[in-house]
Amino acid sequence: MNPAVSATWQALTDAAGAGRSVHLRDRFAADDRRFARFSVSWNDWLLDYSKQRVTLQTMELLRSLWQAADVPGWIVRMRAGEAINHSEGRAALHIALRHPAAKGPILHAGHDVMPAVHAELDKMQRFAGEIHGRHWRGATGEPITDIVNIGIGGSDLGPRMATQALAAFRHPEMRVHYVANLDGADLATVLAHLQPRTTVFVIASKTFTTQETMQNAASARHWLVQALGEAAVARHFVAVSTNLAEVARFGIDPANAFAFWDWVGGRYSVWSAIGLPVVLAVGVDNFRQMLAGAHAMDEHFFSAPPAQNLPGILALLEIWNSNFLGADNRALLPYSQSLGLLPRYLQQLEMESNGKQVDRQGLPLGCATAPVLWGEAGTNGQHAFYQLIHQGGRLVPCEFIVCRQADFALPGHHEKLLANCFAQSEALMRGKTLAETTAALAAGGMAPEQVAFLAPYRSFPGNQPSTTLLLPRLDPFTLGALLALYEHKVYVQSAIWNINPFDQWGVEYGKQLASRLLPIIEGKAPAAGLDSSTAGLIDACK
Ligand code: F6P
Repeated sequence: MNPAVSATWQALTDAAGAGRSVHLRDRFAADDRRFARFSVSWNDWLLDYSKQRVTLQTMELLRSLWQAADVPGWIVRMRAGEAINHSEGRAALHIALRHPAAKGPILHAGHDVMPAVHAELDKMQRFAGEIHGRHWRGATGEPITDIVNIGIGGSDLGPRMATQALAAFRHPEMRVHYVANLDGADLATVLAHLQPRTTVFVIASKTFTTQETMQNAASARHWLVQALGEAAVARHFVAVSTNLAEVARFGIDPANAFAFWDWVGGRYSVWSAIGLPVVLAVGVDNFRQMLAGAHAMDEHFFSAPPAQNLPGILALLEIWNSNFLGADNRALLPYSQSLGLLPRYLQQLEMESNGKQVDRQGLPLGCATAPVLWGEAGTNGQHAFYQLIHQGGRLVPCEFIVCRQADFALPGHHEKLLANCFAQSEALMRGKTLAETTAALAAGGMAPEQVAFLAPYRSFPGNQPSTTLLLPRLDPFTLGALLALYEHKVYVQSAIWNINPFDQWGVEYGKQLASRLLPIIEGKAPAAGLDSSTAGLIDACK
């Protein structure tokens, strides 16, 4: 049912109207316990959402959306392996990928998936052990120094982001590269620095039919075969896929194929064999820690009441900002170089999952769904786009993520990083009034006419909402929990918006049109039936 027609939705709309004129600085001034009231901890994490434009009443109303949407029921359905991806008739059981073997079965179509999950994990461990132990040799007998993961979307973004995030845990003798783009510049620039003798390619594709990945895989194969001959393919190519028949057709030895299952969505697959390059980059123990962190977050999500539930709180805050305050975007601002790829990863997770306008009954939805997610690691973003957040006049809810401890502890860096992160959220919340600016400039001895001229430029509206997630340190356990946090946030929102977060028909449509245009561009089919712009562009390339 359309969430926007409920009485709670109306009450939230009224609350948003009533609170519109209240500035965040006044909310803080009026309540010296605001931080305590609007922050929550989990293990050694702290989520501070006191700088969001919420009241206790707003939070209570938002939590009733959780109940009205039956989030607890959706959790049960997910855990039971029901086909919650109803438009594709599939379960979404990524939680099974991090479920400890000792904790019992997880059923899919009446079968326990856990033995297969752990068998594949063990196979990844053996393979990484052979590579790291220099037992796995290339066709010329040399040990492997470089891994190239070829994949795109969920078969790239997760492992790429995790490899960077865990840079401090990297295996000292292993270099892991990622190629995704169909543009040959991506593969060519990676291969330029590599030797075929010491390189292994991981071809990662759930379907093993994705055009970008198949083209890059074919070009990589050609590069290798030219140098080492056809017989070398078996020692230099492995695959990760649900489509093992296609893997075999490509010429990869089935013994070197790592499986996963159709109940793992592409953007939820970093926990599966799609994580193989992460295992190669940081070792299986660290990867298992990442799984353990994700599982700990799963348990928290399944059991914590909505007022303490981290994924739930993030989900509800974004619904408040986008559906009631009118924000059409959210800036994700990790004050962590290692989390620099997190915004890109979450763009797929959040926008591909919840960028929908048709509900679970096939009806048009009456409200906005996933806002545009964007962002960049702090402090770099401060010197690029923060100006707009401070003075551009747009509502930009910000999400800061920062660790208490540095993962690369160079003296003098981390305290400054923390100071910058906290200063930004403070400045965005507080702003600086014209009167304050005027007084500050005058106190500095500036001439009155100069003060009057400059003060408007140097004043800031503030009232920009933000959340700060303070993590202990960026280790594999924390990273796993962080990614699971966002997966569940997306799920809660999908339940409230009454949409299916596990399909992506929009992406499929683009793929279909590209296959129709390819023969026209290659000159093998006539340009009939095209609009004049598309036809004109193709013509201009000939
Ligand atoms: O971007 C669409 C998509 O289907 C993603 O969901 C998926 O992660 C990506 O393409 C890659 O697909 P595959 O792993 O099958 O190559």
